[in-house]
Amino acid sequence: MLVLGIESSCDETGVALVEAGDQGLPVLRADALHSQIEMHQAYGGVVPELASRDHIRRVLPLTEAVLARAGTRLADIDVIAYTRGPGLAGALLVGAGVACALGAALDRPVLGMHHLEGHLLSPFLGSDPPSFPFIALLVSGGHTQLMRVDGVGRYELLGETIDDAAGEAFDKSAKLMGLGYPGGPALARLAEAGDPTAFKLPRPLLHSGDLDFSFAGLKTAVLTQAKKLGAGLEARTADLCASTQAAIVDVLVRKSMAALEGAGLQRLVVAGGVGANQALRAALGEAAARRGVRVHYPELHLCTDNGAMIAMAAAMRLASGAQTASRSYAFDVKPRWPLAELTSRP
Ligand code: KG4
Ligand code: ZN
Repeated sequence: MLVLGIESSCDETGVALVEAGDQGLPVLRADALHSQIEMHQAYGGVVPELASRDHIRRVLPLTEAVLARAGTRLADIDVIAYTRGPGLAGALLVGAGVACALGAALDRPVLGMHHLEGHLLSPFLGSDPPSFPFIALLVSGGHTQLMRVDGVGRYELLGETIDDAAGEAFDKSAKLMGLGYPGGPALARLAEAGDPTAFKLPRPLLHSGDLDFSFAGLKTAVLTQAKKLGAGLEARTADLCASTQAAIVDVLVRKSMAALEGAGLQRLVVAGGVGANQALRAALGEAAARRGVRVHYPELHLCTDNGAMIAMAAAMRLASGAQTASRSYAFDVKPRWPLAELTSRP
C-alpha cells in the first residue's frame, strides 16, 4: 500500500510517499520539502497569506518530484493523507484541497491527519524505532507537551505549556537579540560559543510538582538582560544565547525525566522542531543514561515539519485499525485541535 502524505500546516510544504506492507513498519520511499523560511524572513515571522499562496505554488511540483524519485505514478498511490490540523487555516486548506482533489480524480480514499501525531510517530521512520509504551516530549514552535503513548491513537496528555511553547521561547528570545526568524536554530548556533552559566535565567515551574511548562517569563527575563546590557549586548550575545538555551533545556530534561519516573517507563521519544537542538539531545542523553532510559529521535531532517511524518502516521493509523480512509472528498480543517481528542475517537 502506497500512502502519499501532504503537509502544509505552517511554513513548510512537505510531500512524501510511504509504503506499508503486511509486516513490519511502513518505509519511506521518497520525500520532498520546500521551506518558506527565506520568504518570511523579510517580515520577521510567518505571514499566513503568503504561506498559503506559496503552498499552492509548491505542492504539485513537489508531488511530481516525489513520484519521480520513487519511480511511481499517480495511479500507483493507494491512499492520500494530508494535515488536517492544527495549524494556519489557509495553509491547511491548500493541502486538504489538493489531497481531496487528487483523491476524487484518482478515485482513492483520503485521510486527514493530526500534525502532532505526525511528529509523535516520526521516530518510527528512523533506524532506531521505539516500541510502545513510551513517554513523548513534543517540542515544536506551537506546542510543548509530555504524553504517555500506549499505541497508535492511544495518547494521554501528562503536561503541557501554560503559555509559550519551547520553540516560541527560542524564537522570541532570538528576536529580542536581533537574530531574525526562525530564531531557534540561530540562537542554538550562537550558543555553541557562549557560556551557559553567564546569566542567571529563571526555570519556571521547575519545582511545580506537575508536568506543566511555562516559558513566557523566560522571554521577559531575556528582554530585561538585553536591556541591561544595552550597547554591550553584541559582545555578550553568545553568552545570553547559551544561558537561554540552558534554561529551556534544563526544564525540558527535568520534566521529561519526571514523566518517565511517574509512569514507570524507560523509553522517551523526542519529536518536533526543537528536537533538532543538539544541546537538548546531549542533556537528555546524559540524564537518560544515568537512569537506564532509551531516547529515540526522528532522523534529524524529519524533526521539523515534513510530509513523511504525515504519510507515516497515516499508514500506521490504517494498519492499527485506529482509522479508515474515506472516499468522501468534502473537507474541513482544524486550526485548533488537541491531540488528546484523537484518543477518544474510535
Ligand atoms: O515542528 P516545527 O518544525 O514546526 C511546528 O510545528 O511548530 O518546529 C519549529 C520550531 C521553531 O520554533 C524553531 O525555532 C524550532 O522548532 N527549532 C529549533 C531548532 N530547530 C528548529 N529550536 C532550537 N534549536 C534548533 N536546532
Ligand atoms: Zn510541526
